Amino acid sequence: MSRGGFVTFEGIDGAGKSSHVAGAAAWLRARGLDVLETREPGGTELAERIRGLVLTFEMEPLTEALLVFAARHDHVERVVRPALARGQWVVCDRFTDSSFVYQGDGRGLARTDLTWLAARAHPGLLPDRTYWFDLPPAQAAERVADRAAADRFESEQLAFFERVAAGYARIAHAEPKRVLRIDGALPRERVAAAIETDLSDLLVVVGAADA
Ligand code: TYD
Repeated sequence: MSRGGFVTFEGIDGAGKSSHVAGAAAWLRARGLDVLETREPGGTELAERIRGLVLTFEMEPLTEALLVFAARHDHVERVVRPALARGQWVVCDRFTDSSFVYQGDGRGLARTDLTWLAARAHPGLLPDRTYWFDLPPAQAAERVADRAAADRFESEQLAFFERVAAGYARIAHAEPKRVLRIDGALPRERVAAAIETDLSDLLVVVGAADA
């Protein structure tokens, strides 16, 4: 049995990643792969409850970080690792990069603290590929403004998202093999085509091309 691949989607709120998560999962399934589609914070009953808290309660930045990593540890241990071990592909809407940029660059927590939490929450687990949806924060804010009810993050000021976006750019620059930048301003079909082309390559790298 070939091993599964771990694919994550990242970007500031409104950058347009979410609809492509399902698209990527469907594309992989159409190639005969067993795919688990999930999200963070979330993906287990406990982690979904933590998500509800994080998106609604006012809290200190460290409280927020501890909660998203608690949710992540539960999700990784109960869902992500078992799925990968079974040979499934895991397609996840957000992962630890979100914590580095939202809790780190956005809220101001130290990178070393977040690195420590990540090392404890999911030792040795890193996505095989991360699609980073890059869109200028002002444009992303216009898209979010159309949504019915904004959560705690979506209600943040532009300056917060400027810091978060800069954080993503730094990660993409530091890890060019893992992180692929997607131009969030491109039409839907072009974004989907770019992801599908890249996934084709990834299947070969991960060793599932003949699955
Ligand atoms: P998101 O995944 O964008 O869901 P929706 O499309 O329903 O708004 O929202 C989750 C929010 O949680 C998003 O604003 C970013 C935030 N978040 C963190 O701050 N840290 C994290 O580690 C994760 C996974 C998410």
